[in-house]
Amino acid sequence: MNVIEVLTKKARELDAPILSYLQEGQPENMMESCRHYPQAGGKRMRPVLAVTMAQAVGGKGHLAVPFGAALEIIHNFTLVHDDVMDNDDTRRGLPSVHKVWGMPTAIISGDALFARAFEIIADLEVPDADVRRLLRLTARTVWLVAEGQQMDMNNEDKDSIDVATYIETVEKKTGVLFGAAAAGGAIIGGADPATVDRLYDYGRQLGIAFQIWDDVLGLKGDQSKLGKPVGSDIRNGKKTLIAIDALEHMPDGEGREALLAALGNPDASDVAVKEAIARLEEFGSIERAKKAAIDYVLDSKAKLQSVPDSAEKDFLLALADYAISREL
Ligand code: IPE
Ligand code: IPE
Ligand code: MG
Ligand code: MG
Repeated sequence: MNVIEVLTKKARELDAPILSYLQEGQPENMMESCRHYPQAGGKRMRPVLAVTMAQAVGGKGHLAVPFGAALEIIHNFTLVHDDVMDNDDTRRGLPSVHKVWGMPTAIISGDALFARAFEIIADLEVPDADVRRLLRLTARTVWLVAEGQQMDMNNEDKDSIDVATYIETVEKKTGVLFGAAAAGGAIIGGADPATVDRLYDYGRQLGIAFQIWDDVLGLKGDQSKLGKPVGSDIRNGKKTLIAIDALEHMPDGEGREALLAALGNPDASDVAVKEAIARLEEFGSIERAKKAAIDYVLDSKAKLQSVPDSAEKDFLLALADYAISREL
């Protein structure tokens, strides 16, 4: 299977449903800022995961489309606020929401997107008891994302953090939303509670691997493909697994000095950032992060064992591999 082709096809089928939920409202500048990222595309991994999971457990995919759209809208809300937090000027190849409309509108449109997602879930055409489960799951998820995002910011101010703190941070800021996509899709597809819990873990672990890989791309990716800045994690002093590895093990000397000169230094030049990245690569920190991501993918895929064989299951297995091989 060509996972990129299948993902892209499934993603494009969701574009219109997602945008359909972002038409009603005013004033026009708020509405435009709400649609800015959703309209620019994105991989749509979370909604595709939710819909495919509903099918993989034997349910109807179309019933999970609004739920998937709600999660994509939540994801986009977190991106609007994340770009403010990270002071990043581009996203999906376009200027960030706060760059175009300013900080107040970025705050407001994030809030508005967040609210719209819950309206969508409240209106799902599934049994009322499941609506309650999905509302609880989603609200809990956004709470945990907030915890993870605050930890991510707090980590910037620390000299270093331990690996367990990094994993907790990325599990919360990224893993749980993938977990909610998988579990929510499974609930809508009619899976039993034990299966829902296992599939939550598939998504959660896939999401942790996805974020570790995202941190690799944030140093070694091609900015024009990624559509977001490369090297910004260095200037922001983000404690990625890569940075932690080097901070913990790199001996004193030129390499460490080059890293410390750029890490957490908002004024570091492009040359200084490139130098720090080269040192991280040379020391093996990037390679070791990739290895860690592979372990999470293996654990993630194992959680699909009880799902009956199907094209959808094959896709979910391939999606986990894609999370750590993608170039964008
Ligand atoms: C970006 O997510 C934010 C992270 C969790 C790393 P994606 O890489 O899924 O972004 P889009 O939706 O494809 O733009
Ligand atoms: C990803 O944040 C997590 C959320 C947006 C909740 P990052 O800051 O690590 O991701 P990018 O690199 O900006 O997409
Ligand atoms: Mg960011
Ligand atoms: Mg961030």
